[in-house]
Amino acid sequence: MPEAPDAVETLRREIEAETIESEEEAEAFRIAYLGRKRGKIGALFDRIPDLDPEARPAFGKAVNALQDDAQAKLEAARERLADEEGDALPELDLTLPGRPPAPAGSLHPLVETLDEVSGIFERFGFSVAEGPEIEDDWHNFGALNFPPDHPARDMQDTFFLEKHENDESDERLDVVLRTHTSPMQIRVMEEGEPPFRVVVPGRVYRNEALSYKSYCLFYQVEGLYVDEGVSMGHLKQTLALFARSFFGDDVRTRFRPSYFPFTEPSAEMDVWWETADGAGQWMEILGCGMVHPNVLEHAGVDPEQYTGYAFGMGIDRVTMLRHDITDIRTLYENDVRFLRQF
Ligand code: DAH
Repeated sequence: MPEAPDAVETLRREIEAETIESEEEAEAFRIAYLGRKRGKIGALFDRIPDLDPEARPAFGKAVNALQDDAQAKLEAARERLADEEGDALPELDLTLPGRPPAPAGSLHPLVETLDEVSGIFERFGFSVAEGPEIEDDWHNFGALNFPPDHPARDMQDTFFLEKHENDESDERLDVVLRTHTSPMQIRVMEEGEPPFRVVVPGRVYRNEALSYKSYCLFYQVEGLYVDEGVSMGHLKQTLALFARSFFGDDVRTRFRPSYFPFTEPSAEMDVWWETADGAGQWMEILGCGMVHPNVLEHAGVDPEQYTGYAFGMGIDRVTMLRHDITDIRTLYENDVRFLRQF
């Protein structure tokens, strides 16, 4: 065994000769030289009691210095390794999960259905028009062949508005929240020349008791096609094609005779709706018919020369069918927990 001072020198040279090129080598270095129990520097400290008392302070100091140097060498190596590792890492960690996109809004299910229904008729060659929600009595009722005291007016519980010619006048003008989109049939025909082929999506209002199936406002899409030689056959064909486009090729539809003052003959179209338990029922989705000659005349179209068909579809109903919605009021409450599903 070398003399004690020589032993420090020998170990110093050994330590200086060490190279540390990896985390594993750094750990091996620490255990070999600086380990509390079996490290080589610790072994030198263990020799102190065997030395001459005068020699102990100098020796202890030398071993302490060696321990500090070894510790410094280890720390420098670890820092260098950490830097190198940092450099070697790709700038972009492709394994990180992506950042979720900012939440985007979505269309209300009613708007989605309105757009889709209008879009299908646009592809059939119809144009799209919109009209006023505040209507005069003539366009909402009179021109559509509702006589003043005809019970058909009762079919549509109406919100009447008060409107006066001017501030002094007591005379009330008959103005209503439109009860259907049909007044746009009149406005479209008043403003142009046949042929007319148009759909009118829009909001309508009725003074009804609120329940799961009726609300004070709802949406319709009106359709009107007027030209020479338009027949009931055209009407049925177009609506059947619409139903296939909207509900799918296997949809079942039927027409039932009905009554509306502004069409003759009149019908309603039902679609067969299968419920989850395998049962099913016919659901009415629209009213339709051949435009009444009086209506054409009221709108300035010659009923001797032209015929036309019209239809009015309940958008809430088809939206509810589609999404299995059982209460119409949920469409108007704007509860985000409901809306987020779409
Ligand atoms: N306007 C009718 C309603 O709201 C629906 C309707 C029926 C529209 C027949 C039409 C039609 O254009 O021809 O109940």
